[in-house]
Amino acid sequence: MFTTKCAMQNIRNVAIVGSGLMGSGIAQVSASSGLNVILTDVKQDSIDNAMKSIHKSLTRISKKQSGSDKEKADYVTLTMSRIKTSNNVSTAVTDADLVIEAAIENIDLKRGLFAQIEQSAKKDAILTTNTSSLCLEDIAKGIDDKTRFGGLHFFNPVPMMKLLEVIRSDQTSDETYATLIKYGKAIGKTTVSCKDTPGFIVNRLLIPFLFEAVRMYEREDASMTDIDAAMRLGASHPMGPFELADYVGLDTCKFIMDGWAAKYPDNPAFAPSPLLDALVSEGKLGRKTKEGFYSYKKN
Ligand code: 3HC
Repeated sequence: MFTTKCAMQNIRNVAIVGSGLMGSGIAQVSASSGLNVILTDVKQDSIDNAMKSIHKSLTRISKKQSGSDKEKADYVTLTMSRIKTSNNVSTAVTDADLVIEAAIENIDLKRGLFAQIEQSAKKDAILTTNTSSLCLEDIAKGIDDKTRFGGLHFFNPVPMMKLLEVIRSDQTSDETYATLIKYGKAIGKTTVSCKDTPGFIVNRLLIPFLFEAVRMYEREDASMTDIDAAMRLGASHPMGPFELADYVGLDTCKFIMDGWAAKYPDNPAFAPSPLLDALVSEGKLGRKTKEGFYSYKKN
């Protein structure tokens, strides 16, 4: 029942750079598949929060599995024991077979990180980014060996979402690509492949959809709650577009769209939303700030 062995031969050690929501989720699913994980971040409080949320999530998952209380507790303890932490990117990546960068969406920061990573990682380590909207080619500008670079795009919440997008640039080698697919399957995800295009598959469709819902509301065609109910009940989406935008984070939605609008100014699907811009400038970023399109404050 508590399967912890991973079928992969060539990837045993995974280094995850960035311990936010995505980095912690990636660490969790990798460790629960039997891989050795090192989670690195410059901020110690971010690492501490990540370890707490991984523990909470594993406990939630273990409660739903069959077995005795001891087996459930052992599963959590064993998985947690596979995750080491570090504040030093360079030393953290030295033994890694696979490095997954899950830092904030800042191109200069990511380029700086990959310069450090390439210098310290093994020559045959595979280097990947979990970027949600940036172009792999831009991120990889400073990487010498681009054949071992690719994209692994996870979805939030990582332990629950079954998909992993595997992105290959023109320079990603067949071997790198095949290993990334194998890693995805080994951590229990269904993999899909996409070229290095804006938003890959999911975000390229999802983000314009979320903005189209906001435009519908801005035109006063329908209320937010009715649009959400319509998409939940009429299209079987687990969350309506406003609920999902609040869940993803309005700052993230805006960041992605602004980047695409700047790069592709003639594409109407990438037009900004005045309402969303206003909420972001007021600091109403969705669930994480307890207010976005909806309020999550407890009365
Ligand atoms: N860890 C462990 N278990 C979790 C969890 C987590 N982080 N989050 C939810 N769960 C489990 C709960 O334990 C619960 O299990 P149970 O029903 O057996 O008790 C189950 O998931 C359902 O959770 P909830 O009852 O809290 O709430 P929901 O039924 O609404 O499910 C959801 C939550 C899984 C988030 C669901 O609403 C959903 O799938 N929403 C859509 C999420 C989505 O679209 N994500 C993609 C966003 S786009 C993205 O990430 C890309 C990026 O680049 C922007």
